[in-house]
Amino acid sequence: MKNIIAFAGSNSLKSINKQLAIYAASLVEDAEITILDLNDFELPLFGVDLEKQIGAPDNVRKFLDYIRNSDGIILSLAEHNGAYSAAFKNLFDWLSRSEKKTFMGKPILLMATSGGGRGGASVLAMAHSRFPYHDAKIAAEFSLPLFADKFADGKITDSEFDDELKEAVKLFQKQL
Ligand SMILES: Cc1cc2nc3c(=O)[nH]c(=O)nc-3n(C[C@H](O)[C@H](O)[C@H](O)COP(=O)(O)O)c2cc1C
Repeated sequence: MKNIIAFAGSNSLKSINKQLAIYAASLVEDAEITILDLNDFELPLFGVDLEKQIGAPDNVRKFLDYIRNSDGIILSLAEHNGAYSAAFKNLFDWLSRSEKKTFMGKPILLMATSGGGRGGASVLAMAHSRFPYHDAKIAAEFSLPLFADKFADGKITDSEFDDELKEAVKLFQKQL
């Protein structure tokens, strides 16, 4: 059985991206799913001077171990001002300093959702162009706009978007 980790690029307790990541993970067949939450990997604000003083905090190694031990990653990014949330960027910066090949060649289902009509298109484009430098194998991408209108009770309610996600999950599954 394949090991999948799923998480949101958000530290919001009610993260819509976490809800989407959990739903997408539920569509993967024959897999052991581990849902991660950035709040369980608290890290100080990255800075080169702090890094010199303290090295990499333990949570960096812990998070990298989750990636290393997985067969695939489901990640849904929150968009803040057209970019990664500060919580995700901080984690990414710490991880990338310990391991430049941060995603370790694992297949990634890369997603974003937001309340607006663009569905996190900017942060998705940012990750699309950056993650491959960190050994990400982006298997499929999916964006859900207008989250409140299209998602309820843990599922996508709009059948067109739901079908699109299911196709993306199939592509991801093929690469596991
Ligand atoms: C500081 C801040 C900036 C935001 N900027 C954007 C944005 O650029 N584009 C967008 O679609 N939504 C933006 N939003 C709304 C977020 O998409 C919304 O808060 C969403 O719930 C974030 O995902 P999360 O619930 O997974 O954290 C912003 C929200 C915050 C708090």
